[in-house]
Amino acid sequence: MHIHPYERRWIKFSVLLLAVFALAIVISSATLGIRLPGMESEPLLAAEQAGFDPEEPWVRELGPGRYEVNLFAKAFYFAPGEIEIPVGSTVTFYVHSSDVIHGLKIVGTNVSIMAVPNQIGRVTYTFKEPGEYLMLCHEYCGVGHHVMNGRVVVSAQ
Ligand code: CUA
Repeated sequence: MHIHPYERRWIKFSVLLLAVFALAIVISSATLGIRLPGMESEPLLAAEQAGFDPEEPWVRELGPGRYEVNLFAKAFYFAPGEIEIPVGSTVTFYVHSSDVIHGLKIVGTNVSIMAVPNQIGRVTYTFKEPGEYLMLCHEYCGVGHHVMNGRVVVSAQ
């Protein structure tokens, strides 16, 4: 089949462009730590296995700069709704729900996890910059979904 030289050049250019785009996605997802909700590096644990009351939210200091949060999602709020930590803290969030499926996205971070009834999702993040981080529900959960939010307040030291 005869292909005009111009046509051939454009075909090559298009294929090259697709390869560049695909490579850009692979490189950026690998270096920026981008993850899809529900594809956490840590496995989901059964609530009973974790051995604590999921209805009781808490923030626990394990040591200098190490925190654990039992974060509980319910229509239509997070508890605790505000988490205060000093800058540089590494926080492990145990995320769960007692009614329907919710999601937790912490804006400005790569924290993105589902809150599933009877399961506990675990995600860890180090807050290197001071400021206020918005926690949003990213899974449609009912009429109050759009107002379901909380905050992580990272204080400068
Ligand atoms: Cu909870 Cu949307």
